[in-house]
Amino acid sequence: MRSTDIRSTFLDFFQKRDHRVVPSSPLIPSDPTLLLANAGMNQFKPYFLGETTPEHPRAVSVQKCARTSDIENVGRTTRHATFFEMLGNFSFGDYFKSEAISWAWELFTRHYNLDPERLWITVYLDDEEAVRLWQRVGVPPERIQRLGMEDNYWSMGIPGPCGPSSELHYDRGPSFGREGGPAVDGERYQELWNLVFMQNLRGEGSGKDGYPILGELPARNIDTGLGLDRLAAVLQDVDTVCETDLLAPTFRLVQEMAGREYPGRDGGDDSTSFRVVAEHSRSITFLIADGVMPARDGRGYVLRRLMRRAVRHARRLGIDDLALPALTSSVIGNLGGTWPELTRQSALIRQVVTAEEEGFERTLRQGSRLLESAIGRATATISGRTAFDLHDTYGFPIDLTVDAARSAGLTVDEDEFAALLEEQRHQAHRAGQGRKGDAVARQDAYRRITAEHGPTQFVGYASTSAETRVQALLGPHGTLHAAGEGDEVEVILTRSPFYAESGGQVGDTGTVRTSGATLRVLDTRPGLDDLHVHTVRILDGEVRPGDEAEAVADADRRAATARSHSATHVLHAMLRRLLGDHAAQRGSRVEPGRLRFDFAHFSPVDTRPVQTLVNDYLLDDPEVRVWETTRAEAEAAGAVALFGEKYGQDVRIVDIGDASRELCGGTHVGHGSQAGPVHIVGEASIGTGLRRIEALTGADALRHHDHQRDILTELAAMLNVRPDQAPDRLRQRLETLAETRRHLDTLRQAELDAQAERLASLAEPVPGGWLVAQRVPSTTGADLRTLTTKILTLRDGRGVVVLGTDTDGKAALVAAAGADTGIQARDLLTEAAREVGGGAGGKGPIANAGGRDPGNLPKAITTAARRARTLLTLD
Ligand code: SER
Repeated sequence: MRSTDIRSTFLDFFQKRDHRVVPSSPLIPSDPTLLLANAGMNQFKPYFLGETTPEHPRAVSVQKCARTSDIENVGRTTRHATFFEMLGNFSFGDYFKSEAISWAWELFTRHYNLDPERLWITVYLDDEEAVRLWQRVGVPPERIQRLGMEDNYWSMGIPGPCGPSSELHYDRGPSFGREGGPAVDGERYQELWNLVFMQNLRGEGSGKDGYPILGELPARNIDTGLGLDRLAAVLQDVDTVCETDLLAPTFRLVQEMAGREYPGRDGGDDSTSFRVVAEHSRSITFLIADGVMPARDGRGYVLRRLMRRAVRHARRLGIDDLALPALTSSVIGNLGGTWPELTRQSALIRQVVTAEEEGFERTLRQGSRLLESAIGRATATISGRTAFDLHDTYGFPIDLTVDAARSAGLTVDEDEFAALLEEQRHQAHRAGQGRKGDAVARQDAYRRITAEHGPTQFVGYASTSAETRVQALLGPHGTLHAAGEGDEVEVILTRSPFYAESGGQVGDTGTVRTSGATLRVLDTRPGLDDLHVHTVRILDGEVRPGDEAEAVADADRRAATARSHSATHVLHAMLRRLLGDHAAQRGSRVEPGRLRFDFAHFSPVDTRPVQTLVNDYLLDDPEVRVWETTRAEAEAAGAVALFGEKYGQDVRIVDIGDASRELCGGTHVGHGSQAGPVHIVGEASIGTGLRRIEALTGADALRHHDHQRDILTELAAMLNVRPDQAPDRLRQRLETLAETRRHLDTLRQAELDAQAERLASLAEPVPGGWLVAQRVPSTTGADLRTLTTKILTLRDGRGVVVLGTDTDGKAALVAAAGADTGIQARDLLTEAAREVGGGAGGKGPIANAGGRDPGNLPKAITTAARRARTLLTLD
């Protein structure tokens, strides 16, 4: 059975049982506590928690998942993957164990036609109900095993919904491991499908057993996850995912590029490398398509690690040319039909992987040089610290360090390396926990408020003011009964005209008045999905939950923000028109009168035509039309949706004229011309394949213009010409200035020549040669050096020059010894330098000294002269 049939069989089966098909969410989750989407249930978390009620109580999906916590296992085993598609059916407080179990059995044995004799079941320790249900569908008791928390209790790895589970395993036969069921051998009895009976809530804590189960969820739910890869491997009778039709073309390409065949499941490190390269190519392709860009931390780092690991294993297999561009193309070719975002983003994917692989090559070269010098210095061992620095700073992999050291007959202190790595992991983990902790505590408070009162009613699309009521007050430690003058707290209102920051648009500010208090709204953010959280300062009086209030958003600021938001959409559309579809939005910041727009592109962009196009488009005064529809229709209508944004089933679409259509929850102008002029003030690279444009809009663009014109007017006045003549006049002035400078330099040289000649004529003959020791009226150290050299050339090589000067309360001395004297110039000044309160420096024939004691300069010159006489005589 081909993988496309496996997917459609699954979806059909559950659709016929009244499940609604829900598309996969992007790999970048909207849940701030989660790095990457790792299970089908992620997007349904609010339903399980009872925060939001789903439109329909049953769902079925094929979800893109990334799991990289045990990346080191991937490739080594045949069953781990960093990316996979998870088939899942879900019940939100609707059906439970009995249906979940009987449907799973029916689908497996009658539709996928798996041999019932090879299926094994595991259940959570004391889940007698599940045991009974499995027996009822016909599973013999000897093939039902009971396992504990570690295996049969599922949670997201973070606080949230969780529950006991029951898993279906497939016996792959004796060549994969020992007899005895999944309790004995997970490689032979491979888990295929996990049925989670979502009924509990887990709190904070780490490790499978280390967190508390806080209690029951509002309802009993079902969350199942069936790995498409693994099922495909069974149904297509191959050993690993790489050999299924999901990855086979890419896997074959790896072998072609390496010029040799995959040695089979048991070929040791080579087998691992073949599998890693193919498997990682798929994750890399999907991650970039969903908007992840390589970076030093976060999900960008996950991506970078995958790319580097793939490249390393490719090189290990002898693939020396760029590998990732071809490999990711083959993934797109194979899976782009099912996942159209891969095809849409193919240009970007190619650019990103090419840049990253080339960058990694440079890293490897740079690391190799450093490593060579470390090897050169080492006697027996390369320190763990050096290996760690190479790894941490240059991304240079430890196994390469070890290999290189070994070839040079050296070892690496791997224990020290491991300890340093562990320490770093610890630090990162602690930092991560802290962040998660804060976010989770706040989310909990918002969740309670939403559960009690429902979401905020946002009325700000139609109006900037509203009659409302204070629903809750929140301080740093939780809800408050009252807040008074000077306090800065968070306020939740029943209805709010304040836009809560999202989609890049800043939150509204404004004022809330109750009968007893005035509150200044400093910012508005989304708490949970539809909960608007207002950060306020109480200007006077006292406020309590329940108070009636009048809320007024700052209308001018909102209007200026709307201009920027509409301008951003038009800028996006025009960039794509000029540069191509790959120039898609990667982020934006929409503020009153100003916008920042990040997009995918690989070279600098000439902003003048972009600006002209945007302004022309807006001046045509296109109508701004806002409408709502279902997500599926929006996509069919070609609306641009943004990565990582969360959209429900119903979406809001903003059209500006014919060329711009985006899914957007923001506030906009009514007509294009209201956005006013757009003035681009900056364009720059902000990372590999990423650029940023900054622009001003409306009145701010005009003010910027005025300011520029004021500068020009002032310059023109200073130059005494009309503004349009200013550049020519300034150029002339600068030329004259340069000319004058050259002239002055010539004069200065002539003056120094004359001075050198005069000083040279003052040379006194001494035994062994001649000596010039003079004080020069205030001049610079540099001039003293020039004079010294000139005097030496004017005379012969058998003399010594000592010159001193004082400027700005400091003394400076320069001494030079002729080539035939054999004197180290510094010897001349050592003692003299002490007399002016400083030290002497300089090597060879010329030396200098400086000190803070100019009063002693004459004495110091005499001392240096005396020393010169002695040295000349000795010579
Ligand atoms: N959430 C469970 C898992 O990921 C079942 O879907 O395994």
